[in-house]
Amino acid sequence: MLSYKHGFHAGNEADVLKHICLIQAYKSLKKHHNSITYIDTHSGSGLYNFNSEYMSKNREYKQGISKLENNKFESHSINFYIKVLKNINNSKKLIFYPGSPLIMCNLTDKLDKLSFYELHNNEFKLLRKNLSKHINSKLHNQDGFEFLNNKINKKNKTLVLIDPSYEIKEDFNKVINTIKILDERFNNLTAIIWYPVLNVEKNDLFIESIRKLGSNRITRIELPLKKYNDEIGMKGSGILLFDGSDFLIQNMKNCVKELYYTLKDDDCIIKPKIQRV
Ligand SMILES: C[S@@+](CC[C@H](N)C(=O)[O-])C[C@H]1O[C@@H](n2cnc3c(N)ncnc32)[C@H](O)[C@@H]1O
Repeated sequence: MLSYKHGFHAGNEADVLKHICLIQAYKSLKKHHNSITYIDTHSGSGLYNFNSEYMSKNREYKQGISKLENNKFESHSINFYIKVLKNINNSKKLIFYPGSPLIMCNLTDKLDKLSFYELHNNEFKLLRKNLSKHINSKLHNQDGFEFLNNKINKKNKTLVLIDPSYEIKEDFNKVINTIKILDERFNNLTAIIWYPVLNVEKNDLFIESIRKLGSNRITRIELPLKKYNDEIGMKGSGILLFDGSDFLIQNMKNCVKELYYTLKDDDCIIKPKIQRV
């Protein structure tokens, strides 16, 4: 039984990093491709109200989107992300935080094909409701890692967001295995794989396992925000960008630097990393 609810975390620092990268990845692919296939393997419910019992419990968004929403940044990617959120809200003040499905439904056009996977039944029902107006999307109440077994049109440029909750440790192994398959079988696909940094040693081991795959197509974008110590909880998060363009990587470099100084705790001295794995 899965118990994770993204509503507790919506709009936090991890969502900020992930959604900026997602928007920029899509924008940069659209410069060269008329039609994109987008696959969201772990969709969540798609929409989170700031006043809901979930978001107001720990108010994680206060450490994320709230620190950005009323500011202007040098990085166009951060400014554009805030603009996208406000457009979806149809308001200058954010009333709800849109998850990756709603962001992508609003950004994409009718030439794009969208697929969303969500395993949790209640989240899936909410997702279906929240995306009801967006008819160009297919919804699967299924394990998102199964996307590789469904037909993917390899001729069409594909963008995949792999955003597990990591509530089961097996998710780390599934991610490693998925990247191996992507590297072996796909030449026309860009993937954004999000991961939490919970513990420095375990994180190093995870990255080492990715490195051992021997692929030269992976860039690690890691944003530390809290002092690394033995306390329980997320110290930061990262993205493994599979086959991201040089343009996208440079773009993320600029924006991560600004995100770091805007979002980090004062005593966090570990620097962000953007490097080939
Ligand atoms: C981190 S949240 C997704 C957030 C979303 N991608 C966003 O950015 O707004 C992870 C979601 O994956 C769902 N989930 C967990 N295991 C899954 C699996 N094997 N396949 C599909 N969904 C799963 C959880 O119920 C949860 O809603």
